[in-house]
Amino acid sequence: METTHNYITPLPDQAEMPLRAPVVDQFGRTFTYLRIAVNETCNLRCLYCMPEDGIGCCHSPKSLTHTQISHLISSAAELGVTKIRFTGGEPLLHPQIIQIIKSAAEIPRIESVHLTTNGVLLKGKIKQLRNAGLGGLNISLDTLDADRYFQLTRRKVYSKVMEGIEIALSKQIPIKINTVILRGFNHDEIGQFVELTKNNYLTVRFIELMPFDSHQVWKTGKFMSAEHIRELLFSQYPELIKVDGTSTEHEIFQVPGYKGKVAIIPAYSRSLCKNCNRIRVTADGKIRNCLFSRDETEISPEMLMGKSSDDLKKLIQGAMWKKPIDGWEAAKMQGENRDSMAQIGG
Ligand code: 5AD
Ligand code: SF4
Repeated sequence: METTHNYITPLPDQAEMPLRAPVVDQFGRTFTYLRIAVNETCNLRCLYCMPEDGIGCCHSPKSLTHTQISHLISSAAELGVTKIRFTGGEPLLHPQIIQIIKSAAEIPRIESVHLTTNGVLLKGKIKQLRNAGLGGLNISLDTLDADRYFQLTRRKVYSKVMEGIEIALSKQIPIKINTVILRGFNHDEIGQFVELTKNNYLTVRFIELMPFDSHQVWKTGKFMSAEHIRELLFSQYPELIKVDGTSTEHEIFQVPGYKGKVAIIPAYSRSLCKNCNRIRVTADGKIRNCLFSRDETEISPEMLMGKSSDDLKKLIQGAMWKKPIDGWEAAKMQGENRDSMAQIGG
């Protein structure tokens, strides 16, 4: 049978790999950042992510429990993971999200715990999130126009999100705004988003659209490349300077004199895979060694029963060792196709 994998060495039997930290792959990358999806459900219906009736109809996962998540993080921490991000779906819909964050932040060797949210439920939870030890928030916001927000998300909650962002800023929680750029929909708002960084210590991240929606929005020609976004950005702000030269994920800029920063994420172009440091776990307990990978490694419930499990650590190590060289190779693999970021973990 022809193989589509692009491995440079034969894969060793994972049970025979000695445990060692940090987790590495055969291309020399190290994995210190664990992203865990806590659910697949969401209170928005962004066009590029979910159909109106959600995605629960055909896929009803058994989500990991609070205890299982904590055990997973303990094992990962022993393998050198220092940073955790909780995603979804919409993680703030999870009834135990505050306790989950608190437990994660208390695990030895975990240096930071972050959350990616659509911000709808933020307002009433900021204090609890901060007390739980949350280190920062990524908030999805693709437009600064209430009507466009409704068009895109199919829910009338723009002002709730803006209130949540304001309160989080006032409480000095580090914030990144995730803005997916859609040609002909919001690319004319790039300047307005940059202006958000004038007086606020936040980072706006312009993200390339990805075809994770059964290609519904993708097919309509709304993709705009990181290179094109960069050109638009520089045509409006030629004075932008590059900052954070050490960032492994993307380019970061700043308008001189502005408090915040601006970044471009080549999510589709996959030009920065060589710097990837992420382990992903889906809400139904599968390790994904790449966002684009279809080759998933299932974590059995038994492995998540104790605080630390060598079997689980070996599973994580083995799953990451076989990470393909980049997201293009990953996309060629066989396996389960997940058609939404809400299923992969945002
Ligand atoms: N393309 C690009 N970004 C996406 N997100 C969800 N679906 C897509 C897609 N198809 C983003 C959300 C959010 C983050 C979790 O993922 O906007 O900011
Ligand atoms: Fe919900 Fe995020 Fe998907 Fe929008 S992109 S529907 S906020 S999970």
